[in-house]
Amino acid sequence: MSRVFVIDTDTASDDAVALIMALRAPDVEVAAITVVAGNCGVDQACRNALYTAQLCGSNVPVFRGAEGPLQRALEDASWFHGRDGMGDHGYPMPRRQVETLHATDAIIKMAEAHPGLTLVTLGPLTNLASALRRKPDLERLIGRCVVMGGAPCCEGNVTPAAEFNIWCDPEAAHAVMRGGLPLELVGWHLCRGAAVIDAADIERIKELGSDLGNFAIECNSTAGAAFFEQTGEHGISLPDPVAMGIALDPRLVESSSNHYVDVEIRSELTRGMTVVDRLGVASNTRNRHIWEDLVKNPPNAKVHWSMNIAGWKSMLFELLGS
Ligand code: BDR
Ligand code: CA
Repeated sequence: MSRVFVIDTDTASDDAVALIMALRAPDVEVAAITVVAGNCGVDQACRNALYTAQLCGSNVPVFRGAEGPLQRALEDASWFHGRDGMGDHGYPMPRRQVETLHATDAIIKMAEAHPGLTLVTLGPLTNLASALRRKPDLERLIGRCVVMGGAPCCEGNVTPAAEFNIWCDPEAAHAVMRGGLPLELVGWHLCRGAAVIDAADIERIKELGSDLGNFAIECNSTAGAAFFEQTGEHGISLPDPVAMGIALDPRLVESSSNHYVDVEIRSELTRGMTVVDRLGVASNTRNRHIWEDLVKNPPNAKVHWSMNIAGWKSMLFELLGS
């Protein structure tokens, strides 16, 4: 029997690769793609999601969601992914259009129709926070909620403290941390070093000779250059496909642990920082008053610390093949 996925995405170049993985996974039914503003504006992100689904021969419904963060102006990542989020290669308009239902309502509707589904978030958490506000008991209907986001105990990619998806809409992430969902955090630290798609991997993907493989490399051209500028690391970093790989096969995770995790919303310096109680000190008497609303419940998130990178790359190559 197929597992049901709903994917919330601010579709840019690495989101597109993650969508391809899910749409091509043989034992997964993607019931909906819900779109949020983030890497680019929501209309461009919808267009990118529809175009990617079209390349996969999929008619998955795509739902337009939030036009910006809950309380802040949208600051996109066009410097990283290109003005169109896809490396500015001039991809044509998709043949299909978005559905009329709002993404927030679509998340709730899909969860009610498919209790136990896997929700994978690849962008800012605005749509999900809105869904939780409308339906506070949404957690009862979600089997797994795999979040690409955060820089737990590590450096961020927007500021030294924060990763883009959490930084972009920290109030939404703050609310999601309190939503009772079975959260699994796939932070930016998992997408660097050996997880970067290096020159040999790029060659291997090109040698697959598939349209999807070529598209995956081409649309990430700007992102590859920007990643070098940002980190000094050569190659293409694929945060959303890493999260999707773990959603598709949790056995890829090599180490993880449950913790209280909160998100900084007040400071400018550490806006969107994912603060992880790794040593379990949040509930001691000296700190308890600061973490009060979290520590009255069990730890709110599973943080993935390391994964089988070779296994993830094999999965990626397979799903990009013809
Ligand atoms: C996240 O931000 C975007 O650049 C990627 O699509 C990913 O979701 C990484 O910080
Ligand atoms: Ca994304």
